[in-house]
Amino acid sequence: MPPHAMTVRHVAQARRLAKAVARRAKPDVRELIRPWLAALTDVPRELFVPDVAWADPRDGPGRRIDRLTDLDGWLHAVYNDGSIITQRDDGATDPGDPAGRPSCSLSAPSISLQFLARLGLRGHEKVLEIGTGTGWTTAALCWWLGEDARVISVEVDGALARQAAKSLAAIGCHPTVLTADGAIGYPGAAPYDRVHVTCGVRTVSYAWIEQTRPGGIVVLPWMPSPGRWGEQLVLRVLDDGSAVGRFTGDCGYMMLRAQRVGDWPAYGEPMEESVTRLDPRTVDDALAEGLMPALAVHTPHLVVTTTGWDRYDGEDAWVMRLREAGGSGWALCAAIPGNGDYPVLQGGGVRLWDQLQATYMDWARRGCPSRSRYGMTVTPDGKQHVWLNIDEGRLP
Ligand SMILES: C[S@@+](CC[C@H](N)C(=O)[O-])C[C@H]1O[C@@H](n2cnc3c(N)ncnc32)[C@H](O)[C@@H]1O
Repeated sequence: MPPHAMTVRHVAQARRLAKAVARRAKPDVRELIRPWLAALTDVPRELFVPDVAWADPRDGPGRRIDRLTDLDGWLHAVYNDGSIITQRDDGATDPGDPAGRPSCSLSAPSISLQFLARLGLRGHEKVLEIGTGTGWTTAALCWWLGEDARVISVEVDGALARQAAKSLAAIGCHPTVLTADGAIGYPGAAPYDRVHVTCGVRTVSYAWIEQTRPGGIVVLPWMPSPGRWGEQLVLRVLDDGSAVGRFTGDCGYMMLRAQRVGDWPAYGEPMEESVTRLDPRTVDDALAEGLMPALAVHTPHLVVTTTGWDRYDGEDAWVMRLREAGGSGWALCAAIPGNGDYPVLQGGGVRLWDQLQATYMDWARRGCPSRSRYGMTVTPDGKQHVWLNIDEGRLP
């Protein structure tokens, strides 16, 4: 595979980043991403980050970065294993203003590399990317494949697509970058060997599967609870037009435009107050271990909207908030330092916390199955079905 010759100006920082990513990865992930680590030293990240952005570095709080006023701080963020928000409110708000809603980011290197590695590329494949964003992942695909014509990337936002094409051209990459709605894929160049979706989805678009040849792979961030981390999903396309695959790791991505969760309706009445002995932080840890797909099996309407430190009843508290997709149900559970029990509020005619607690207990009763024992099947009618322990060896 003849990789693209690319020039990284900040070689020392790039090497440090590659080493840090490898060092911090769990052994299986380190092995997975090993062939892709050189992308961090060969594909220059600095060309894909705007002068002003918002960094969420691994080693500190989020902050505005500005290349012109603080080059060192900007470079530190660019060569850090954190994500960088490069657009807010579809371009209407300064990306460095935390009040705006993020709409594009340069993903954290360790996550980008995991997804790229999960594509299982040998080097001859044609790849469709959904969500060009800054263009760094597109550049990494060109670097790996060594032939730009085999990379097609679709971005819904025209300004982002134009900027990405410019950044790519600056390093000598000329893949096809299109401004279009990637939810329908890009039939014009199908079939693809691989589809790499780089925006979060609640529902897998069947177009991506339809446009992939049998045996091909579709990787995507499955985010049933936007606002919380989701799951890396690797689907393999079958010759009957369906696709089957497992959850392989966690991730957090900006949502596909049509699947963004808008503003929730006002908190619905009536409201009930109760207490639970189940610590919401225990549930939060479980979400990262395998509970997220379990929720999709048992309570697909339940969305975990936010988790973290907040105010509850005039006190600092760790709060988990839930909403009902397609309904007016809501719930919250708060952990107040010093309190033994956890207050619960639920409203909108549905007891979402009780449902979450029941799903958690069912998951625990089954021995806390890890995410990799769950998977998804997408069928040609566009339906997706999340399962636990597909019947291996019992094919009809
Ligand atoms: C997390 S960013 C992508 C990161 C990117 N691959 C990179 O390396 O910078 C998600 C991108 O998906 C784009 N997007 C959202 N909905 C889309 C859609 N329906 N079709 C194409 N792109 C979409 C967003 O505009 C945003 O640029």
